[in-house]
Amino acid sequence: MKISEMTLGEVVTEYPGASAILSKYGVDFCCGGARRFAEALRGHGLDPHVVGNEIVAQRVGGRRLDVKLGDFSTLQLIEHILNFHHAYVRAQRVPLLSLAGKVVEVHGARHPEYREAATLLAGMLDELELHMRKEEEILFPAIIALAGHEATGAPVPETCFGSVANPIRMMEIDHRQTGDELFRLQKITSGYVLPDDACASCEAFYQGMYHLQENTFEHVHLENNILFPRALELERTACVRP
Ligand SMILES: [Fe+2]
Ligand SMILES: [Fe+2]
Repeated sequence: MKISEMTLGEVVTEYPGASAILSKYGVDFCCGGARRFAEALRGHGLDPHVVGNEIVAQRVGGRRLDVKLGDFSTLQLIEHILNFHHAYVRAQRVPLLSLAGKVVEVHGARHPEYREAATLLAGMLDELELHMRKEEEILFPAIIALAGHEATGAPVPETCFGSVANPIRMMEIDHRQTGDELFRLQKITSGYVLPDDACASCEAFYQGMYHLQENTFEHVHLENNILFPRALELERTACVRP
């Protein structure tokens, strides 16, 4: 299929390097992953052919990931999300916030954008922690039970939330909020471009936020565009099975 005919979610699944390119242009592929690539790019005033060529060139350049996460089993995907995304957010929290505090204390008077970014970042990390706990304690166990039912016919336990579509809808609302906050951070920091007088701590602060953005966009993409549709399909199949 041609890249212009794919959805944003399909493009990012097929071309992992696409996530960084789309983020750079401010295109949300996580929560808006069902939109057609060409249409979404035109909506941002971008030429789909130019951006499509940039994405394909990146893959030709050999920077494509060896592993296609879309080929992972549901359990492997959840394990990957826990180990490479949830763990990453938690590992970054203390060092990044302490860096933010230091940068604001020393340079905040001359650079209000540092303070604004630090406040937004702290709130976002708090929300992310709550969000990840809801996934780990409520949604992921339900998806694991559905995958177990498909593999072995094990009974699917009753849940207090009924259909898996209900917690998924809640998680997607959280994702939209996190995506908006990340794009706001990108705007406040002028795309993570440092002012001329930036010191090494400022550089580490911006770099840390940039990596958190990249990791989180990938994280949300895996959940919204791969894991959640799969969970809904597993539940549909489990319901029609005699
Ligand atoms: Fe997650
Ligand atoms: Fe999530």
